[in-house]
Amino acid sequence: MPTDAPAPPVPLLNLPAHHAALADDFRDLFQTFVASGQFVLGPYVESFERALADYCGVAHAVGVSSGTDALLVALMALDIGPGDEVVTTPFTFFGTAGTVARLGAKPVFVDIEPDTYNLDASQLDAAVTSKTKAVIPVDLYGQLADSDAVAKVAQRHGLRVVEDAAQAIGARDGKGRAAGSLGDIGCFSFYPTKNLSAMGEAGACMTDDDDLADRMRKLRNHGQTGPYEHAMVGGNFRLDAVQAMILERKLAELDGWTAARRRLAARYDDALRDAPFVTPAVAPGNEHVYHQYTIRAADGRRADLMKHLADWGIGHRVYYPLPLHLQPCFADQGYQRGDFPVAERSAEQVLSLPVYPELTDAQQQRVIDALLTFNG
Ligand SMILES: Cc1ncc(COP(=O)(O)O)c(C=O)c1O
Repeated sequence: MPTDAPAPPVPLLNLPAHHAALADDFRDLFQTFVASGQFVLGPYVESFERALADYCGVAHAVGVSSGTDALLVALMALDIGPGDEVVTTPFTFFGTAGTVARLGAKPVFVDIEPDTYNLDASQLDAAVTSKTKAVIPVDLYGQLADSDAVAKVAQRHGLRVVEDAAQAIGARDGKGRAAGSLGDIGCFSFYPTKNLSAMGEAGACMTDDDDLADRMRKLRNHGQTGPYEHAMVGGNFRLDAVQAMILERKLAELDGWTAARRRLAARYDDALRDAPFVTPAVAPGNEHVYHQYTIRAADGRRADLMKHLADWGIGHRVYYPLPLHLQPCFADQGYQRGDFPVAERSAEQVLSLPVYPELTDAQQQRVIDALLTFNG
């Protein structure tokens, strides 16, 4: 326990502080918004979609109701359904594979790289069968998966690629290509904890393909092709105009916020160089956006580290404690512990620390002090 005067806790995230500087703007925007009466899709959504597509350098952005629904709409647009297999990583948020299963298809997992935590593309070939239709690489923690390696395998086997870029908006690879632009369809989440966040639920599907964009626009609105005429069965995956309005205003700030996250990450890297933790590895050329700053504790030491951080009042969380192949709902898929050792070991060791633009130097120093006094 620290012996100095008790310091205020350092939260894992501080959403009130995140929005405080924009409060006046939001008040003005909201007044105009209320007067507009345009609350679902419409001009606010179209304007945000244009800004988002330009930001990512893709032809189309299709605003939807969440990141999960973005994945669902993307897979529906690619006609994924019963009998199909979709290959992905077991070390991700549940929605990545849950959407595959919800469409009646089978999520097939391959292990991850130990340093980046992203899908290990060298294992993809072995997972492909005659039923495989698509692969979903995930840009975990804000670092792009190896899209060139994934694309090579996808081309060889005629697979479609859905990039789960939920955590990585603003990230770029060595060729300057942006998160969300690296597959046939890229999916974003704007959940309140994300680097670009709504004040509620929101997401988007990104694509350069005009036909896929058209299908996704229809699918998000019950497959409607004209007034009460439905060419396909979709759902209500529409984006609220209020979220689009908020997101477009915040998009203008995103690069500044990302720069702040990178500064914080660099400071953690320096301070923890000799500490008994593994700090994030960034693949050459990748521009990580540090949705999470995630360290690894030595085998068997994470629980003690978490207790130590809790004693110091430092917010922290494990993303993700149970890999997807071991989730109870996938028990009938035939996977067992030991199938994906890198993902399983990562799930036992990783720990994410506070990293957000509003984190002050003093708060970050306190996190660092807590970590350096841990007897790891
Ligand atoms: C990797 C990943 N995929 C999908 C999602 C789903 O997004 P949402 O929570 O907006 O439905 C998330 C967000 O939690 C995520 O982190």
